[in-house]
Amino acid sequence: MRTHFCGLIDESLVGETVTLCGWADVARDLGGLCFVDLRDHEGIVQVVAEPSDAEGNAAVLGTAAGIGYEDCLRVTGTVRRREKPNPKLPTGQVEVLATAIEVLNKAAPLPFHAHENAGEDIRLKYRYLDLRTPRMQQMLRTRTKLVQALRRWLDARGFQDIETPILTKATPEGARDFLVPARLHPGEFYALPQSPQLFKQILMVAGFDRYYQIARCFRDEALRADRQLEFTQLDMEFAWVAERDVQDTVEAMMRDVFREVMDVELGEFPRMTWAEAMRRYGSDKPDLRFGMELVDVAALVKATEFKVFAEWANADGGRVAALRAVGGAGFSRKQVDDYAAHAAKFGAKGLAWLKLGADGTINSPIAKFLDEATQQALVQAIGLQPGDIGFFGAGPYRVVSEFMGALRLKLGRDLGLVEAGWKPLWVTDFPMFEWDEEEQRHVALHHPFTAPAVDSIDDLRANAATAVSRGYDMVLNGNEIGGGSIRIHRPEMQAAVFDLLGIGAEEQQAKFGFLLEALNYGAPPHGGIAFGIDRIAALMAGTESIRDVIAFPKTTTAQCLMTGAPSPVPEQQLREVHVAIKPKE
Ligand code: AMO
Ligand code: AMP
Repeated sequence: MRTHFCGLIDESLVGETVTLCGWADVARDLGGLCFVDLRDHEGIVQVVAEPSDAEGNAAVLGTAAGIGYEDCLRVTGTVRRREKPNPKLPTGQVEVLATAIEVLNKAAPLPFHAHENAGEDIRLKYRYLDLRTPRMQQMLRTRTKLVQALRRWLDARGFQDIETPILTKATPEGARDFLVPARLHPGEFYALPQSPQLFKQILMVAGFDRYYQIARCFRDEALRADRQLEFTQLDMEFAWVAERDVQDTVEAMMRDVFREVMDVELGEFPRMTWAEAMRRYGSDKPDLRFGMELVDVAALVKATEFKVFAEWANADGGRVAALRAVGGAGFSRKQVDDYAAHAAKFGAKGLAWLKLGADGTINSPIAKFLDEATQQALVQAIGLQPGDIGFFGAGPYRVVSEFMGALRLKLGRDLGLVEAGWKPLWVTDFPMFEWDEEEQRHVALHHPFTAPAVDSIDDLRANAATAVSRGYDMVLNGNEIGGGSIRIHRPEMQAAVFDLLGIGAEEQQAKFGFLLEALNYGAPPHGGIAFGIDRIAALMAGTESIRDVIAFPKTTTAQCLMTGAPSPVPEQQLREVHVAIKPKE
């Protein structure tokens, strides 16, 4: 149908006749002279329809005058140099003088305009129109490049690409499962995999040395900008390895892939323990593109009259931490309240502050509780300079870390401290277990198949609350882009960990019997990692939301606005799969 792509017409084609296909990005009828910006996946070129004595051209001009946004066109014409080049377009030196224009398909009046800032809901409903825009085309192309670069890297190094089932048994990664009723087994269900975790481990037992898969994962969890119900992992597993073998390999892969796709040097990855990351940045995925570290001030406020500080400074498992915001003494009352509201979203019960005026005077709602010496000691410890503000959080260690970490991120952005560029790191030495207050039991911080750092089951039992795992996360610019671990490869240890997680013998057999059995037959030591492809692609594409790098994503209310999924199904279909819907209460 066509001889060239619109976006690739250049001066080398001047004088030649070309046939192009594309959409009318913009059409302007200047009365007896029409311009159409013709767009395809490669870009835009200007098409002109001019008056002329020739019969044919009158028809061309007539057609051109009737063209509207997003009409689907086929244009034949001659490439010529533009009188006034457009430096904003790669094709801006030339234009195509139309000798024939065919409207292949008229577009209805558009629900939104690509050139305006349309809301995301309407863009998702008419996703095909949204995806046509150069911005979205570019972002999805970045994703393709990423996946291709990863595959090339892995294929060149003997990783074997193996598919694992989508209809399977539950594979816990800490989220709810999606269930699929089994028609042939009334009352029974398949689960969609939260990840290929157990299958890849069993592949190691099965003698595959290095595995990878670009795998779709399904998790019924609360959606956010960086979370979807179904998302894509680069899933990897290695036999006969310890932490550094996995980490060094995938670190080299990431460096190579970023160089290839982004022309970026990631350099060496610093390593930080989970405890250090929480202490310094209040996060297990610290954004190292700026400093502004948390300062622990409990030692200075143990004896103050401000009850909240004194209580948590003296409590086991308490934390009193501060953040210095440079120049923040000028924050208005409302700004300070907004920061407190932000911290509250992450669990803060309050957010005390202390302003050090340009003249050195202190202004703080808690000044009355703090003697002069304590005030000065705090100013010193936090490093406040005249004109700064210090924010304070007090409470349980994890809670304070989290809300102060969230506050740090917001302040860093608001104050323009986040430097351009790429800051990767490894976070290691995660706690093996977390205490779940609601359920009153240990839960696995990574997943239940992660090996503890100790070899002895007795040691693990005796020190479960403080046990460290052999898990690790790769973090980039404050995003967890990958997580993995060395796995448990002995069945006794796996059973002991299940025990500690409150999974009894019967449940172990029912849910994980196949894994425990497989580990019995000479399972080699093994470990691996999985990367969030959507998250890496979003970072590369420079967007905040992974929805921008997924062709057909779900909304935060877990719906597909284009297809209308999820939707009711006919009674007959339900009966076939032995499902009955309870009426809503
Ligand atoms: P994990 O649960 O940490 O590990 O997932 C690995 C990576 O996948 C990405 N990710 C997500 N991306 C988008 N939407 C989601 N809902 C979502 N959840 C996770 C993150 C994360 O780092 N089986 C283990 C891996 C292993 O141990 O080898 C696993 O799935 O970038
Ligand atoms: P109050 O005496 O409760 O009015 O608190 C005085 C100041 O301390 C206010 O600025 C509160 O926001 C702050 N505050 C209260 N609880 C906490 C807390 N847990 N951590 C930090 N600041 C707090």
